[in-house]
Formats: sequence, structure tokens, C-alpha cells
Amino acid sequence: MALFGKKNANYISAKETKRISKENRKITNEIEKKRNRKNIPESEYITTMKNPENVVEFDNVHTYFFTDIGTVKAVDGVSFEIPQGKTVGVVGESGCGKSVTSLSLMQLVQRPQGQTVEGEIRFNTGDKVYNIVNTPTSEMQKLRGNELSMIFQEPMTALNPVFRIGEQVDEITKLHNPDMSKEQVKARTIEMLKLVGIANSEGVYKMYPHELSGGMRQRVCIAIGLACNPRLIIADEPTTALDVTIQAQILDLMRNLKDKINSSIMLITHDLGVIAEMADYVVVMYAGRVVEKGTASEIFKNPSHPYTIGLMRSKPVVGKKVDKLYSIPGKVPNPIDMPDYCYFRDRCELSCDKCQGSYPGVIKLSPTHEVSCYRYADRPEAGWLANVHPGEGGKTHE
Ligand SMILES: Nc1ncnc2c1ncn2[C@@H]1O[C@H](COP(=O)(O)OP(=O)(O)OP(=O)(O)O)[C@@H](O)[C@H]1O
Ligand SMILES: [Mg+2]
Repeated sequence: MALFGKKNANYISAKETKRISKENRKITNEIEKKRNRKNIPESEYITTMKNPENVVEFDNVHTYFFTDIGTVKAVDGVSFEIPQGKTVGVVGESGCGKSVTSLSLMQLVQRPQGQTVEGEIRFNTGDKVYNIVNTPTSEMQKLRGNELSMIFQEPMTALNPVFRIGEQVDEITKLHNPDMSKEQVKARTIEMLKLVGIANSEGVYKMYPHELSGGMRQRVCIAIGLACNPRLIIADEPTTALDVTIQAQILDLMRNLKDKINSSIMLITHDLGVIAEMADYVVVMYAGRVVEKGTASEIFKNPSHPYTIGLMRSKPVVGKKVDKLYSIPGKVPNPIDMPDYCYFRDRCELSCDKCQGSYPGVIKLSPTHEVSCYRYADRPEAGWLANVHPGEGGKTHE
């Protein structure tokens, strides 16, 4: 039959799968063994920031999944910073590695198959700087919730349906403040619920998640996330499950709370409207890599990577009538078998002869605006070209 007769490039025999999984086990066992050592000295994970004004620095981070059909390079050399007190928006197509980047920062990537195999994630608590990649689990547990917290996309799955709201928020406060009395914990929970705009906070304290609306549930999740005044809030599509009016309220709330407790936000979303409203800086990801980053005004006024340009064109503009919204042709390459040239080349309407080369290096268009694209390789502002390493696979450091 034609279906089976032709050799299929995507087909992997059982024998091959067995070989791959054996090899994977060898790699992941070694990493896990190193991670599970007892009494890891601080010198292995305490480090210094490149710029102490930042709360997080992702530096050439590689997070892979070692699966039976091959290695998924979900995050493949990502570098960007989150300055203190600022909101950094991360955008990109589904599957480009946004969530895996944030999970790497929380050390919540599904182990043992998922591992950060290269690079540093530096997190600044104010007193100490942790390289999250090497930080032992016991230390990580102190950072999660206290210094780093996460708000997930689906509030219904993030909350436990069989516990009352009060119990769920109390638990977090208690865990991080073991000296507080029961009354103090409850008072703090009610204060948090009020802070996130729940009017009937005493009543909600006794309710179960199913008794609340979607917007209220997300507010509870935000209250849980903020219970310990974290230095960084990671919000992974926090408003996707909500309708537009509630979305605006929740975004406003997050912005106000961020300023009140003086933290930073890493905001992951598909929605450029949300980014425009919230972000100070924008990071555009494509197939596990950062293809462009800059201040929000640079990205919106002067989108430079063809993928960013496509993203901007595919969003509707009020008052502008179009027959059909633009969509970027083609699809993302297979993450197991990435090409050795620009990952966007085969979908790019602006590709040129130079694009036949290896993956483009990082080109600085301004001190804050960087893009990985050959179209800018010989721009006249040669001063900014000092950092270009063509063919280095987009790495920003040597
Ligand atoms: N546990 C896992 N095992 C294997 N592959 C995984 C796992 N989790 C994620 N991946 C792969 O990693 C890549 C990046 O996934 P990720 O969830 O970060 O995408 P995303 O950018 O957050 O997408 P979305 O916008 O849909 O949430 C995808 O190719 C995905 O299939
Ligand atoms: Mg995601």
C-alpha cells in the first residue's frame, strides 16, 4: 500500500524508539543524580547579576524534553532580562516555548524527561542571586511562593474544587509564615481577598470554587499568587479564560497590585492587545528562540523581524476595514528536527539570498532593540553591529 510502501521521514521503528529511550535515560539519570546530591554547596548556585537592576536574567537557556521519539528543543538559547518593577510581555505562536521558559524559571518543568541542559537563569532576591538551573529543590521551595509566584491560565484547574476558598489562601500564608496564629492568617486572607477586589470577602472565604464566577476565581488565584509579596509574578495567559470586560479589570488589578507590592511581572500571552496595555518590554519568541525583543514602543512602532511584522498584521485594528485578516502562511517546524537555518525562513515573505546561511545572529537596532534576522545584517548603523555573531545560533554571549 502506498501509505506503508514509501519510507516515511517521520516514522520511527520500535527498535529505534528503544535505542532513543535508553540513551535518554542515560542522559537524564546523570542530570538527576547530580541534582539529587545532598548538601550541594552554595557556590554551585549562588551567583551575581550582570545588571543588579534586573530581577531575572535568562542567559542562553536551553530546556529540552528527552522523549522516545527524539529530543524536543522546546527552549533553545533564550536570553532576555526582566528589570525590577517592570512588566515584560512574552509573545509567540502556540508551542514556541513560552510556558516552558517560565516553568524553567520556577523549576517546574516535567522531570526527568524535561531538563534545562545549558545556560543560566539568574534570579535576584535582593539579598542573594540564585542560578535557578543549579538551585537544589529544597532552596527552590523557599523561593516559590515567597519570591516567585505564578498565576495560571485556567483558574478552575488551579483551584482545588473540594476545599473552601479561605482554606486554600490560608494554606499559602501559613506555609510561608509559620509563626502566624490562626486568626492572623485568616485576617491576612480576608485582606488579600479585599485587595483583589472581592467585595464580599468574608462570604467568599467560606465558599467553594464552583460557587464563584470565572473572574472571581481568577481574582482568588491572583490573591494566592500575591499572598507573600513576591518579587516576580509570572502570569501565563492570565486572562485567556475570561471575557473582555473582566479581562480589563484583571489586568488593571495586576498592574495596581504590582506597583503596590513593588514587584515585576512576566506576562505570557498570545494577545498583542494585552501586551500593548501592560508591558514595558516585549520579547517575541518563535520555535524556542527569541527572534526580537525591545521596549513595547519599539516593538509596536518598529516591528523588525518578519514574524513580528506578521503578528502585527494579523491583529484587527479598530476603524480599519479589511476583507480578511492577515495570517502567517505555513507552520512552525517540527521541534524534534529543527533546520540549521533561520527557523522562520520557509514561512517568510521577506526572505532573501542571505537567508540561506545558518541561523542568524543577534543584531542590535538600538541599545534596547534586538532582532535575529539577516535583513539587518548590513545596516548602516555599524556601531550597533559589534555584537553580531552570524551563524552562532542567536546566542548573545560567547
Ligand atoms: N512535558 C512535555 N513533554 C514533551 N514535550 C513538551 C512537554 N511540555 C511541552 N513540550 C513541548 O515544548 C514545546 C513548547 O511548549 P510550550 O508549552 O512552552 O508552548 P507555549 O509557547 O506555551 O504554547 P501555548 O501558547 O500554546 O501555551 C512544544 O513543542 C511542546 O510540545
Ligand atoms: Mg503556554
